[in-house]
Amino acid sequence: MKKISIINYKGGVGKTTLSANLASELAFRNNRVLIVDLDPQANLTFSFFKLPEWQQLDADSKTIKHWYDAFLDEDRDMSLKELIVTPDKVNNKLKAMNSTGSIDIISSHLELINVDMELATRYGGNSDRTIRSSFLRLFSRLQNGLREVEDDYDVVIIDCPPNFNIVTQNAIIASDLYLVPARPDVLSTIGIDQLVRHIDALTVKYNDYADSAGGSWEKITPTILGVIFTMVSIYDQQPISTQREFITQVRRSGYSVFRTYMRDNKTLFAKSPDYGVPVVLDVDLTGIYLDIRKELEDIVDEVQTKAGL
Ligand SMILES: Nc1ncnc2c1ncn2[C@@H]1O[C@H](COP(=O)(O)OP(=O)(O)OP(=O)(O)O)[C@@H](O)[C@H]1O
Ligand SMILES: [Mg+2]
Repeated sequence: MKKISIINYKGGVGKTTLSANLASELAFRNNRVLIVDLDPQANLTFSFFKLPEWQQLDADSKTIKHWYDAFLDEDRDMSLKELIVTPDKVNNKLKAMNSTGSIDIISSHLELINVDMELATRYGGNSDRTIRSSFLRLFSRLQNGLREVEDDYDVVIIDCPPNFNIVTQNAIIASDLYLVPARPDVLSTIGIDQLVRHIDALTVKYNDYADSAGGSWEKITPTILGVIFTMVSIYDQQPISTQREFITQVRRSGYSVFRTYMRDNKTLFAKSPDYGVPVVLDVDLTGIYLDIRKELEDIVDEVQTKAGL
């Protein structure tokens, strides 16, 4: 089971859109996919569920917030399996397309933001040893939780919020790989560098603590799978020159940049959130939209090759 986080500190760069389409295309290619929505904005959750469906999940305590709540309120380890739900619409579509793959989801909650703040107050202790042990326990929660479903899925896609709070760090610690969607603009290079540095520092700290706590903690190696440029404006079959400069700059910095870009198209992507089935599975597309769907498929080809999926 490969675990892949989709992450960037910057908001609105296409993390959720990429997560939904990547998960859907991998499912179409006969993989059993689990999506974990860790963003309190819950956009990914709402791209698969309607509001009343989510309200039922909330009433049934089936969101990631309830899982962290069990830990915070009762120091109880609720099974992650209790949260997993199967969105009908996309899975019916997959069946209709003769795929044997599937999509399950662990939904997010708008109040996850409070959970993050409360988790921060739990981290600490009076001695180096208690600080280390509370850090390892808190930051490895998602990693441990996902061990329960190790044999149930081929791939887990984790959609991260635009921050590096404790829940986001849980995602990185749980992940084998991470993907960085980025817009080709001036802040990209700086933002990507900063993100990678923070992830590297977290890895060093975690492994250092794991070392000094003895053999029971597994080391982590979250590895960058690459940068995917999103919302790219194409002219004459290539990104417009200002965007090309930023893409080249990121490549020169040594990051693996995906060959294929996610093109800018508000009409196509804006309708997906309340649609229930992501663009990549929309078989009725024509003309330019068909080209964009093909680009999404090419991106998934690259992910599969790079991730060994
Ligand atoms: N390639 C694209 N072209 C045009 N619009 C897009 C594209 N990809 C995503 N969008 C739109 O841009 C907005 C932001 O996208 P998305 O929610 O995927 O970003 P995000 O990085 O997850 O944002 P956040 O940081 O808020 O979680 C959405 O309205 C989405 O529909
Ligand atoms: Mg998002």
